[in-house]
Amino acid sequence: MCGIFAYLNFLVEQDRRFILDTLLNGLSRLEYRGYDSAGLAVDGASEEDIVICREVGKVAALRKVVDAQTFDFSKVFVSHAAIAHTRWATHGQPTTFNAHPHRSDDHNEFTVVHNGIITNYKEIKTVLEKKGHRFESETDTEVVAKLVKYVYDSHKNKAGLTFSDLVKNVIKELEGAFALIVKSIHFPNEVVAARRGSPMLIGVKTSNKLKVDFVDVEFTNPDSEIHDGLLPADAQLPKFARTQSRAFLSETGMPQPIEFFIASDPSAIVEHTKRVLYLEDDDIAHICEGELRIHRLRRDDDDTPTVRSIHTLEMEIAEIMKGSFDHFMQKEIFEQPESFFNTMRGRVNFDDHKVTLGGLKAYLSTIRRCRRIVFSACGTSYHSCLATRAIFEELTEIPVSVELASDFLDRKTPIFRDDVCVFVSQSGETADTILALRYCLERGALCVGVTNTVGSSISRETHCGVHINAGPEIGVASTKAYTSQFIALVMMAIQLSEDRTSMTARRNEIIDELHALPGKVKRVLEQDASLKKLAQDVLHKEKSLLIMGRGFQNATCLEGALKIKEVSYMHSEGILAGELKHGPLALIDENMPVILIMTKDSLYPKVENALNQVTSRKGQPIIICNEDDTAVESKYKTIRVPQTVDALQGLLTIIPLQLLSYHLAVINGVNVDFPRNLAKSVTVE
Ligand code: F6R
Repeated sequence: MCGIFAYLNFLVEQDRRFILDTLLNGLSRLEYRGYDSAGLAVDGASEEDIVICREVGKVAALRKVVDAQTFDFSKVFVSHAAIAHTRWATHGQPTTFNAHPHRSDDHNEFTVVHNGIITNYKEIKTVLEKKGHRFESETDTEVVAKLVKYVYDSHKNKAGLTFSDLVKNVIKELEGAFALIVKSIHFPNEVVAARRGSPMLIGVKTSNKLKVDFVDVEFTNPDSEIHDGLLPADAQLPKFARTQSRAFLSETGMPQPIEFFIASDPSAIVEHTKRVLYLEDDDIAHICEGELRIHRLRRDDDDTPTVRSIHTLEMEIAEIMKGSFDHFMQKEIFEQPESFFNTMRGRVNFDDHKVTLGGLKAYLSTIRRCRRIVFSACGTSYHSCLATRAIFEELTEIPVSVELASDFLDRKTPIFRDDVCVFVSQSGETADTILALRYCLERGALCVGVTNTVGSSISRETHCGVHINAGPEIGVASTKAYTSQFIALVMMAIQLSEDRTSMTARRNEIIDELHALPGKVKRVLEQDASLKKLAQDVLHKEKSLLIMGRGFQNATCLEGALKIKEVSYMHSEGILAGELKHGPLALIDENMPVILIMTKDSLYPKVENALNQVTSRKGQPIIICNEDDTAVESKYKTIRVPQTVDALQGLLTIIPLQLLSYHLAVINGVNVDFPRNLAKSVTVE
């Protein structure tokens, strides 16, 4: 849901080509967050001249616009600040006018990039329009650029005004969720970045001499309120009384050569530096003259830490490159033998049949005593919760409910102090899931995060949790994160049940099969060529595809159908086979494509009934069954997967559906990693 990126060099000579390439490459890494349009703002002939380049479509289109500019590409900047953006349209169509950066006026005095939604933008826009501001776009973001200028123009003593104080006064007016970065001709080589509800981090690249491990937060007290309503014409900025000002990045106090990279996620930073600092909600970061200061407006109930530590990214650049694969989605599907292993690494002792999830250790007894477990998630992450609910209930004997985060909030679901709420999210930044988390925190429940993103909002705001360690997932369609979430949730259920001796045999059986899984996944992946042929010869011209199964395979049907519709644009529906006769059977005839999942578990006879119901209506299903299932008649087309324990079988049956959806998308000419209208990280409600 939009990616933002900024690059600042201070006392480090860089030519314009390098700066532009750094911005464009940063945007390419973030493109999975949205690719409706892209744009950037850099200094032009002088610091009083900001050039904005914007284009509809992907970063490649922006690159062409940039290359066509009459820039002196060899011009060297000793210090410079540049901002960039890739957009997923929420307010206003994907047009050049709606592309970011947005500007305050014809002279580009202030330029802004933004991820999120300003919910009160209409009110602010109305006021600013009355004051003569002319808007160029349909976006919520543009009000920020105009508002900064308005506050700047209203301020009488410009000499004493800092960029951060200016932006603070704008932020105070904004409602909603945002990560935004502001650049200005009035504050050359500086930027101010602020976050509330949308992710943002800052990478720091220095010479080895400059060793800094943390940045202090500066709290400021507004000593007067800026206004009663919205910004009267004679608005005066309040003076900010500094209560703490130790936030220098340089230990010596002398200016040091330094580069900063601000981004929505670490994949855009890791190729430049591994030293990063995550901003907290309501942080306002000001980079000026090689220093990074982090400001907050003092609030009595603010209990966020007063220090932002510099972390070392563990991700490697190779992890975010496509390598020999054509698409990230394909790479991520094929990485699963490895990602399965990584999710379990150091956590499952296969000899002792023991699972240890360090992040949950201190909370195990509380979780075991809870009255129920409530999972909340969206999309694919929701399916991983559904896929593991049965084994969770069986092993822990605690009732489990699985909630779509948006619906959970819509219903204002009752939550109590003795509930345990689990939030599952690949990105850790999905707005609906974060809001569900905050809702449960307010009601005193123990909140557990299951995410793939270290430092994400969900991993930071939950009491405890599990990182699934699947490695960066770039393809918009989630594949390896689904299977790693599935494994992480099964491991969690095993660990929670370790005090139940009656479950020992069941636990051991699952742990043995966890061990065998990476090898079995490889066997499924070997069928790639035949799945491609099935997509090509049988399915790709079809308009619709029904995927049926029951029990442990119910989630596989829903997830398989989601994969197929989101990347190939073919309509697909997951159907619980037990429900077939209650309605969906009406769709079945000799022309309706059906995939039926019929693996060997206790529900096999019931799935056979579904098969009979389909064939007696002339349906000709393709059957996903186990390798050694000789009972499936040869007249059916089959996709055969190795057998594993029932609770884990869904990890193997989903993979052919991931591969089928991938091939259908490629055959249909869809840009697989960037399906239309979608974004990887949905940071708006
Ligand atoms: C589908 C897909 C989405 C996400 C959903 C939640 O392939 O990726 O359905 O699963 O948007 O995202 P996270 O897991 O980041 O919370």
